[in-house]
Amino acid sequence: MEPRCLSATGSIVKLSSFAILLFFLLSCFSFTSTEAYDALDPTGNITIKWDVISWTPDGYVAVVTMFNFQQYRHIQTPGWTLGWTWAKKEVIWSMVGAQTTEQGDCSRYKGTVPHCCKKDPTVVDLLPGTPYNQQIANCCKGGVMNSWIQDPANAISSFQVSVGAAGTTNKTVRLPKNFTLKAPGPGYSCGIAKIVKPTRFLTADKRRWTQAMMTWNVTCTYSQFLAQKTPTCCVSLSSFYNETIVSCPTCACGCQNNATDPGSCVEPNNPYLASAVSGPGKSTNAPLVQCTSHMCPVRVHWHVKLNYKEYWRVKVTITNFNYRMNYTLWNLVVQHPNFDNLTKIFSFNYKSLTPYAGLNDTAMLWGVKFYNDLLTQAGPLGNVQSELLFRKDTSTFTFEKGWAFPRRIYFNGDNCVMPPPDAYPWLPNSSPKQVISILHPAITIFVSLLFLLAYA
Ligand SMILES: *[C@@H]1O[C@H](CO)[C@@H](O)[C@H](O)[C@H]1NC(C)=O
Ligand SMILES: *[C@@H]1O[C@H](CO)[C@@H](O)[C@H](O)[C@H]1NC(C)=O
Ligand SMILES: *[C@@H]1O[C@H](CO)[C@@H](O)[C@H](O)[C@H]1NC(C)=O
Ligand SMILES: *[C@@H]1O[C@H](CO)[C@@H](O)[C@H](O)[C@H]1NC(C)=O
Ligand SMILES: *[C@@H]1O[C@H](CO)[C@@H](O)[C@H](O)[C@H]1NC(C)=O
Ligand SMILES: *[C@@H]1O[C@H](CO)[C@@H](O)[C@H](O)[C@H]1NC(C)=O
Ligand SMILES: *[C@@H]1O[C@H](CO)[C@@H](O)[C@H](O)[C@H]1NC(C)=O
Ligand SMILES: *[C@@H]1O[C@H](CO)[C@@H](O)[C@H](O)[C@H]1NC(C)=O
Ligand SMILES: *[C@@H]1O[C@H](CO)[C@@H](O)[C@H](O)[C@H]1NC(C)=O
Repeated sequence: MEPRCLSATGSIVKLSSFAILLFFLLSCFSFTSTEAYDALDPTGNITIKWDVISWTPDGYVAVVTMFNFQQYRHIQTPGWTLGWTWAKKEVIWSMVGAQTTEQGDCSRYKGTVPHCCKKDPTVVDLLPGTPYNQQIANCCKGGVMNSWIQDPANAISSFQVSVGAAGTTNKTVRLPKNFTLKAPGPGYSCGIAKIVKPTRFLTADKRRWTQAMMTWNVTCTYSQFLAQKTPTCCVSLSSFYNETIVSCPTCACGCQNNATDPGSCVEPNNPYLASAVSGPGKSTNAPLVQCTSHMCPVRVHWHVKLNYKEYWRVKVTITNFNYRMNYTLWNLVVQHPNFDNLTKIFSFNYKSLTPYAGLNDTAMLWGVKFYNDLLTQAGPLGNVQSELLFRKDTSTFTFEKGWAFPRRIYFNGDNCVMPPPDAYPWLPNSSPKQVISILHPAITIFVSLLFLLAYA
């Protein structure tokens, strides 16, 4: 639609507000969907590849490599936990670059005792600083995996496993089943292992190719709905042209309830803050948030700061309200039509995301290493900020109808709750309330349709 070609009649105003509302409702809808499909990263997945490097008298040695193919979702401390179920009575004789969390019952073995005899082993990465003779390439990062866009070299994690009491040919090997990936909480679901073409490896001198005896892949995908039932971040808005600050929706991530849940949040000046931080919930990393009306661990504020002749400027501030989390390698995904012409970004890294050909309105932002790539726990230092300078495209640019505000924001890959569009700061003299009331019947019908679709 070209608003410039049409006179500014009521119908245009109605249409664009409706488009924004539609978008808002759609994003609510996508959040409630259980499907592990992310429109901004349609092929995002973690692929786990097993390469059988050699056969042994009673089994095989495999190198297991996990690739985080997700554009903007990473795995931060305390890192991944990988589990599976053996098809038969397999055991793990030894591991390099990772370990199982439990040995299990190895009493049937005399002499050399296996590393793990459990039917369903649980594997974790080793920590940085592991002696070199216990490492393999891409191991020992404490289970941390960066996202594919932020740092592909560190989006890979590997370990080696020596399996006994297993098949010793590609005909007799039984593939492990029921893979589970925790990162560290729930959210990922893994498919079944599939035999694929054996991986080929180039030797160090780059003059010879070797290949695995056998290779299988497992693909795991993420669903925000599986990860947590409540959102984890929200968006607030302000602008130079209207003094109203639109805060995050009340109860966006939960409600303060002193009666039934007195410890659900803490006041910043609470004398018992330190003991609350290390109190119950510490081990599970359950968030301990500062008391706010939105109760979100993270808030993203978008301030439309300045208007120049050919450019306009936005200030983005990310605030941590969680006393129990330092967000390492944080990232933000922002959708706004003007990202096709971002001229300059100060003090954050930036990369354009193009999930579909021709779509160029989404960008990923993340911190500068050693400067602001760590979003510190709640408190005076618990925020990072940057400014964005956009070049105006006169055919689309406007401060009206909330155009200058983002359409959608993700923090660390999770959708942030936006304020309702009718609450956006308006340019003086525009009258959104009237438009909304005209629109009301249409919205009601639309919402009912959505509900029908969602629960049909
Ligand atoms: C996993 O991601 C890779 C890289 O984006 C892609 O090539 C592959 O098709 C994806 N796998 C699935 C099953 O979606
Ligand atoms: C197993 O090995 C044989 C030859 O040794 C090969 O022809 C066959 O394709 C292999 N099968 C699989 C599933 O890799
Ligand atoms: C798969 O793993 C889950 C969780 O570890 C377990 O509850 C389930 O029973 C397992 N299923 C099979 C078929 O082993
Ligand atoms: C198996 O995974 C590897 C590594 O991600 C990838 O290169 C390969 O294409 C995958 N194979 C299939 C058939 O998906
Ligand atoms: C909970 O208590 C805090 C301070 O003790 C107060 O500011 C807040 O209004 C109370 N909330 C409710 C829902 O009662
Ligand atoms: C966050 O980092 C600071 C400084 O390194 C440290 O003092 C604090 O204990 C950390 N907090 C958490 C929750 O890990
Ligand atoms: C999207 O915009 C960026 C920044 O202006 C540009 O570098 C990139 O080439 C554009 N991509 C497409 C597909 O238009
Ligand atoms: C960005 O703005 C410049 C200058 O106005 C223009 O030449 C260019 O085509 C724009 N790029 C896009 C992707 O709109
Ligand atoms: C600022 O925006 C609010 C809506 O968030 C609106 O109610 C108010 O009238 C606007 N102020 C002016 C001066 O237009």
